[in-house]
Amino acid sequence: MEPSLIELPKFLDERGNLSFIEEDSQLPFKIKRVYWIYDVPGGQIRGGHAFKDTEELIVAISGSLDVVLNDGQKEYRFHLNRSYSGIYVPKMMWRMLDNFSTNSLAMIISSTEYDENDYIRNFNTFKKEAQSC
Ligand code: TYD
Repeated sequence: MEPSLIELPKFLDERGNLSFIEEDSQLPFKIKRVYWIYDVPGGQIRGGHAFKDTEELIVAISGSLDVVLNDGQKEYRFHLNRSYSGIYVPKMMWRMLDNFSTNSLAMIISSTEYDENDYIRNFNTFKKEAQSC
């Protein structure tokens, strides 16, 4: 599977805009967990790991950030700065979140509950496992 940009529904309204996610119509996985990353000091990087089984959707609910993905061969960089679009991250992707703006808020929708055993935290180990997929 390739990473991709998923456009979410948006209702533009002079009272303020509204977007939503429903797993059956917008996501290629079932939602098991939602977490968010916030108060990131300038220049900091989150991530730096891959998941063996977890798939994710990353949305910059507020502010902006970059999502950098590597499948073991190819690198992808996405700039997120809209509340109504997210990056679908398939399993077995090395992923890093960087270039956070002040007050940015990244919401991550995940296909699994938190499990440290699902993480690959060494890039060389990831590359070897990605080659054998
Ligand atoms: P981690 O996924 O390593 O952060 P990031 O990839 O964004 O740098 O998570 C940091 C810590 O937070 C991890 O050691 C355990 C905890 N954690 C949970 O308990 N539940 C969760 O759903 C997540 C994502 C993290």
